[in-house]
Amino acid sequence: MNRKEDYIGVFDSGVGGISVLRHLRKLLPNERFLYYGDSANAPYGRCTTADVQKLTLTAVEKMLEFGLKALVVACNTATAAAIQELRQRYPDLIVIGIEPALKPAADQFPGGRIGVMATEVTLREDKFDNLLHRFDAETTVFKIGAPGLVELVESGKGDSGEAEALLFEILRPYVGKLDALVLGCTHYPLAAKAIRRVLGPRVVLLDGGEGTARETRRRLENAGLLGDGPGHILWKNSGKNEEIIALCEALLNT
Ligand code: DGL
Repeated sequence: MNRKEDYIGVFDSGVGGISVLRHLRKLLPNERFLYYGDSANAPYGRCTTADVQKLTLTAVEKMLEFGLKALVVACNTATAAAIQELRQRYPDLIVIGIEPALKPAADQFPGGRIGVMATEVTLREDKFDNLLHRFDAETTVFKIGAPGLVELVESGKGDSGEAEALLFEILRPYVGKLDALVLGCTHYPLAAKAIRRVLGPRVVLLDGGEGTARETRRRLENAGLLGDGPGHILWKNSGKNEEIIALCEALLNT
């Protein structure tokens, strides 16, 4: 039986879901959040889909021990690989996923040129192809992989010169050619400043964090499960490194 005072679980392969938690906390200040990052097993983006599914299900089982009224899968990769299985396993739990914000980008730039940067798993799954085919007749969409960026964000270097150099290599073919860049991995908004330095001020950067937070609030409201405070975040991480929680707190507040 779900209760108002239960946690909203926020799951990611590591620290990336904090870019979603920022919006959740703003829209739902009276909630208790359990943030679980599976940093010991990140990056998920280069695993097989079956492995991402297995890792996600194991992590969610651990999270459920704390008592959840909702689960936000704040990871595009885990959503692509495991959301259907999660919904089947836990039919009584509110389960919300995230997908690359291609629709808002196409709405904003009809007929425009849009880059979607995401992990290998996200870009190769059927779920993404289905999304793509809804918009690629009118819009020019570029699929952009960013190997190595998640690792830099995980080590607290999302805004470093190293990240900028990597992003320069990845994005160089698209400089001056995009109307918008969709950040289709929750780690990437945590490197937004470096991305902006490479692409310049004109390109619109979009991510699914705010939309996911709004959907979470709507679902809780409809179920009569909105919390009434005080707000709180419980941090959990599979990483052995104790500094990871300090990094989580720092990322939340930047
Ligand atoms: N944060 C995850 C996402 O939104 C993926 C990061 C990873 O590769 O582990 O796709």
